Amino acid sequence: MGSLWIETTKDDISFNELNQNKEIDICIIGAGLFGLTTAYYLSKNGKKVVVIEKDKIGEKVSGNTTGKITSQHGLFYDHLITDYGKNFAQKYLEASEEAISNIKKIIKEENIECDFEEKEAYVYTTEQDKIQNIEKEVKAVNDLEKEAEFVTEIKNMPFKIKGAIKFKNQAQFHARKYMIGLCKAIVSNNCEIFENTTAIEVEKTHENYIVHTNKGNITSKKIVIATHYPIINFPGFYFAKMYQSTSYLIAIETHKKLPEGMIIGTDNPYYSFRTAKYNGKEILLIGGAEHKTGKPIETNEKYKELEEIAKKYYPDCKVLYKWNTRDCISLDKIPYIGEFSVFMKDVYIGTGFKKWGMTLSNVSANIVSDKILGKENKYEDIFNSKRIKPIKNRWEVKNMVQSSVNNLVFDKFRIEPFWIDQIENDNGAIIEKDDELVGVYKDATGKIYAVRPVCSHLGCLLSWNNTDKTWDCPCHGSRFDYNGKNLYEPAIKGLDIITKI
Ligand code: FES
Repeated sequence: MGSLWIETTKDDISFNELNQNKEIDICIIGAGLFGLTTAYYLSKNGKKVVVIEKDKIGEKVSGNTTGKITSQHGLFYDHLITDYGKNFAQKYLEASEEAISNIKKIIKEENIECDFEEKEAYVYTTEQDKIQNIEKEVKAVNDLEKEAEFVTEIKNMPFKIKGAIKFKNQAQFHARKYMIGLCKAIVSNNCEIFENTTAIEVEKTHENYIVHTNKGNITSKKIVIATHYPIINFPGFYFAKMYQSTSYLIAIETHKKLPEGMIIGTDNPYYSFRTAKYNGKEILLIGGAEHKTGKPIETNEKYKELEEIAKKYYPDCKVLYKWNTRDCISLDKIPYIGEFSVFMKDVYIGTGFKKWGMTLSNVSANIVSDKILGKENKYEDIFNSKRIKPIKNRWEVKNMVQSSVNNLVFDKFRIEPFWIDQIENDNGAIIEKDDELVGVYKDATGKIYAVRPVCSHLGCLLSWNNTDKTWDCPCHGSRFDYNGKNLYEPAIKGLDIITKI
């Protein structure tokens, strides 16, 4: 059971892999929502663009989203005003609101059937002592001249709430249908998309860049790095400025009435709710169970947590889909958008969208395409990707450093069972053999796959994730399949395969 968005559009589009060297104006690495939207804007402006994707378009983070398009990013504006000032908060809000109308405009102009629906967005609490946070947020948003309301009821909510902030005129859609629409528009603007084409290295020549891929080279004047996590470590150092967070979603059908709106909690743990269209009916998506990516966690337990919530409030429900996603979170909670580094001219980036990638990818695509087209963008300064400022959110710095360290220490004690015989079929573990660590997975028939369980990004020890059958990195969130193939960045290369064990 994968993502509702991917499973219901599985065979709706496909592209060839790169089969010859190319010379182009702009090469975009990564065909998620940011990469495709940037390609869309540039191709509309007559630029020759090539998009390369290491797997299939929109099947990574953008295809595993909740699909909410909103300027309501949790309780955020009171924090922005306090820490960054009113002007900054105003721009962040305006940029996000504009993104909603930009997406609506693209859908209309390109005739994209993607179940777009305008909805109200809510952040709720069920705890008395959190009401004041909601009230403060309402005031902050109103001070920024956007209408927001304090409410004590959300229609058809399955449990009582103490209070919520309501934003009007937000939206939801089927994210992959939208991305497929973008792809069609990009191709009709005479640009190209290649799937199953992995960028391995970016080389600077006198006048250009060469993107070396596993299928050929692309010589390009400008590059946009639109992978989920930047694939270039130095310069940029994004691996030291962001961490990843994993959260889970299930889609259920039920005969009970479904909550109206896009709803997310601010309690701990928090849950989110939104409806979606499926086979002519309305179904409900329930999300939450978040944790830092790479933490050794039993993924099944996380789905179970959501299923228990679903059963509690919708006893007749049937689970249709389950999926999880990883979000990149910058330490100051502000995305990095713009030039990649002062040392890499003509290379651009958009990353760190937290859990609001549908909206912030459009903000990024506008800023980056404006930069490439030589136009001013009034929001670029607040997202400046080259900012070197003291991190406001010291708690997050501590959290990132400490949890990486804890994980390494913790994993030292997870090197068990010590004998390969003790690993059950369809399970994996790290064992010690001849003073070397070996990551072993036994498939359902007992066939053994062995890898060196050390991340090919910057060398952290990996942990086994038995639900997804992946090796996950606690440091910056790279993931590899049981046979060592790289699935998620920032790592590009796979793991070393051990043939003798
Ligand atoms: Fe950076 Fe693994 S993702 S070390």
